[in-house]
Amino acid sequence: MGMPFACPISGWMFNRFQGLLYPPWVRSVLEMAGWHLPEGGKVLDVGGGTGTMGRLIAGPRKLSVWVADPAPGMLRHGRGIHPVLARAPGLPFRRGIFDAVCAGEALHHFRSPGEALEEMVHLLAPKGFLILYDFDPTTLLGGMLQRAEKLFGEPGNFFAPQRLRERLSRMGMHARIFQKGFRYVLLASPARHPVLEEVSP
Ligand SMILES: C[S@@+](CC[C@H](N)C(=O)[O-])C[C@H]1O[C@@H](n2cnc3c(N)ncnc32)[C@H](O)[C@@H]1O
Repeated sequence: MGMPFACPISGWMFNRFQGLLYPPWVRSVLEMAGWHLPEGGKVLDVGGGTGTMGRLIAGPRKLSVWVADPAPGMLRHGRGIHPVLARAPGLPFRRGIFDAVCAGEALHHFRSPGEALEEMVHLLAPKGFLILYDFDPTTLLGGMLQRAEKLFGEPGNFFAPQRLRERLSRMGMHARIFQKGFRYVLLASPARHPVLEEVSP
């Protein structure tokens, strides 16, 4: 974890600027996906910070949102979540227990994103799905962000969405990608889940 998230007010900043980080089309994809979760379902937001993405997926529904993050300064500012101080890989959960596992603007901050991804897939229940929101490094803005993050000592491990789809397919997951400019949302499920057909931006 780099300096920005170690700062005690980092979570306050993220809550304040979450509107900029999650544009309306991303929010709508996340909320639509959330309607495919069972009543009382469990969502795990990995690198979730204050839990913005998990809460957007839950929307108005009564789902339980777990947020795993190694930064106390982020978790402290989460509301209505179950905070867990942990990093991926190495999350303290049993396999197969979450109806959805997500990561928003987070995977590229992980030192071992490939292993973290495998772990996230293993945590999914049989009818669960994965939701990843991140920036495409093959676009102009995404590439600039990657270079800027590396300059500031962050790992900058960005995945192009197609690469992520190929990796997930080797793990037996079907994926669908929504992309506008440098931002993308990837939905993936081990089975042909209706969420893959019915969600649109
Ligand atoms: C850009 S913030 C995104 C926070 C949140 N997902 C959001 O969208 O507001 C990236 C987060 O990833 C967390 N992080 C970094 N490395 C991690 C790891 N290996 N496992 C889990 N979280 C990690 C950081 O502490 C930080 O809170």
